[in-house]
Amino acid sequence: MSENPIPLSNPNVTEQEIQAVVDVLRTDRLSIGPKIKAFEAACAARAGRKFGIGVNSGTSGLHLCVRAMGIGEGDEVVTTPFSFIATTNCVLFERAKPVFVDIDPETYNVDPAALEAAITGRTRAILPVEAFGNTAHFDTYEQIARRHGLAMIEDCCEALGGVLGARPAGNFGDCGVFAFYPNKQITTGEGGMIVTDSPEIRDLCASMRNQGRATEAWLSHARLGYNYRLSEINAVLGLTQMARLDEILAARRQAATLYDQALGQLVADGLVHLPPMTWRDKASWFVYVIRLADNFSQANRDAVLAKLRASGIGCNNYFVPIHTQPYIMEMLGTRPGDFPITERIAARTIALPFFAGLSAEQVRRVAHTLSDAIRQL
Ligand SMILES: Cc1ncc(COP(=O)(O)O)c(C=O)c1O
Repeated sequence: MSENPIPLSNPNVTEQEIQAVVDVLRTDRLSIGPKIKAFEAACAARAGRKFGIGVNSGTSGLHLCVRAMGIGEGDEVVTTPFSFIATTNCVLFERAKPVFVDIDPETYNVDPAALEAAITGRTRAILPVEAFGNTAHFDTYEQIARRHGLAMIEDCCEALGGVLGARPAGNFGDCGVFAFYPNKQITTGEGGMIVTDSPEIRDLCASMRNQGRATEAWLSHARLGYNYRLSEINAVLGLTQMARLDEILAARRQAATLYDQALGQLVADGLVHLPPMTWRDKASWFVYVIRLADNFSQANRDAVLAKLRASGIGCNNYFVPIHTQPYIMEMLGTRPGDFPITERIAARTIALPFFAGLSAEQVRRVAHTLSDAIRQL
């Protein structure tokens, strides 16, 4: 292992966040207090939405949205196989059926034409994902949902601060969900945020995250609920990070630009594809995921990952296609080969170290090690 490992991700936590957390710890309000309200308002404003509902993870937020939309057994939800597993699990939690469609290779987001073709009489909702933070096609998905009278949940867990034209991520469909795990643009340690313009969705989600309470009365429960609350400690961390979001996004864009430049020769030689991020200079970069050219195999990619790791460079194969996870194949009858574009891309992805403050020297070292590993194949 190398002397100076470069992590895959690294949360951007400063003295400001530490002080804010310590200040909350000195109060008697560690849950359900003023910080979550302020954090909700900040996230709603950023998404151009009326309401935010803070929860303890992105997964919890997606689950509550699925329930709030009344999606249940027998309903179909059209979604992408190229995502983090929670996108599909939140549909399965409610015994509804995820229906996968293949992705657009130019953006890694669901192919709009394939999405529309998959709509049947049983379809209740669409659940597209901003893969790696790319907002491409979200206006089109919204038009498709409207045209067919379907609910739309935007899984914007990877896209906080991104824009599509004048519209921010989180602004599409009935509701959207952000996530704040430490590898995300901003973090609360663990946490998530639902954003919506609908007072009905807001009320339902706020009640369900808090054990189904409909009022302040602690032992009065109006519906089935969960403990998906976000503590004041997590909320103030998020609130303080939100105030620095633009600074953090700019630093991440700078890191992406450094990589774009450092990998130029590999691209010119036809060996790798850069991340297909649309509107690069305005994007909210979640991860920096390159892809080996199609003539390389998955085994080649895995060999490159192993070499990077042996040099102390954090990396990963984002994502394993959801329809090839063993329990999903068992539950839904999906098979390798079902979604060839997703599989072709997923077999060749390499997520490189990526975070605000990644130095030019670190980028050079990653690019050099990567280049050696690929040219030795
Ligand atoms: C696309 C996507 N959906 C959902 C989630 C789930 O978020 P969490 O890990 O906070 O539950 C994540 C993040 O991990 C994600 O990347």
